Amino acid sequence: MLSEKYRPQNLADVVGRDDIVESLVKYKKSKSIPNILMIGPAGTGKTTLAKLWIKYLHGESYKLNAMELNSSDENSIEVVRTKIKEFVIKKSLGSNYPKIVFLDEADRMSLASQGALKKIMESYDAKFILCANSDNIDAPIKSRCVVYRFNDLKDEDIEQRLKYIIEHENLEVSDKDINKIIKNASGDMRQAINLLQSVNGGIELSEEITNYKLLDLNIKDFEDKILYKYEAKKIIEKLFNEVIKAKKYDKISALATADYRVSLQTIKTLQVLDAFMQVKGE
Ligand SMILES: Nc1ncnc2c1ncn2[C@@H]1O[C@H](COP(=O)(O)OP(=O)(O)OP(=O)(O)O)[C@@H](O)[C@H]1O
Ligand SMILES: [Mg+2]
Repeated sequence: MLSEKYRPQNLADVVGRDDIVESLVKYKKSKSIPNILMIGPAGTGKTTLAKLWIKYLHGESYKLNAMELNSSDENSIEVVRTKIKEFVIKKSLGSNYPKIVFLDEADRMSLASQGALKKIMESYDAKFILCANSDNIDAPIKSRCVVYRFNDLKDEDIEQRLKYIIEHENLEVSDKDINKIIKNASGDMRQAINLLQSVNGGIELSEEITNYKLLDLNIKDFEDKILYKYEAKKIIEKLFNEVIKAKKYDKISALATADYRVSLQTIKTLQVLDAFMQVKGE
């Protein structure tokens, strides 16, 4: 999907976040790295910036020195106590900066896990980056972080990025449609890019998966005929096309989330099945 294809690959590609980027760059220069909490609505660049910041900070050794956990998948207290602790207990390698633990969707962590997290923050040199949609973060954790507020992106920032994508993809989209997309996205860049893709009639698919109508399949047939036979990304793209055709625009975000997650180290089929059940459900 275009929203994943055009996830910014470096800090300069991120639109509308100049003040935050500037501040993050300064922290690297000053060599004093804080814990960071990014709070804001969906599709405004939190996960993107968190990851770019980790790469910017550690350069080539970022894979050794950063650990990423999606809190809504792995929010058990055991994960915090064992996985994170194991990682932070040793110092960083090939980098002068502290190790970074990236916890996405941190507001979905249980209170118990947040408590365990707080203890680790107090006891080790590693630094944390937390992303959240809400302020549902334990006060003692929050008070240990520099908090960045991500507000809705401005229309002109969204317009700039959409035009960049339109140019690079050689799309034909009228100004009227661009304006409609921007208005509908209301500050959510992911939504804007998904809508851009939908006005273009979806994604071109060349495989035999096009012969199926996935939304008509029950879950068992979906598992038997599709889930293990086709690449996760292809299935998501096919579902995307069907969802657009059925004008079920509210289902797009479930697919965008799955598209992101299958690009991580997760069990891909589970993510696809979950998205399928979400888009099928009324
Ligand atoms: N500021 C931005 N500049 C350029 N692209 C952006 C920006 N913000 C979001 N995007 C686009 O939207 C997609 C989703 O962004 P991202 O995953 O960073 O959102 P998020 O704030 O973490 O949302 P959520 O709260 O749902 O996790 C990215 O893949 C990218 O294509
Ligand atoms: Mg995110």
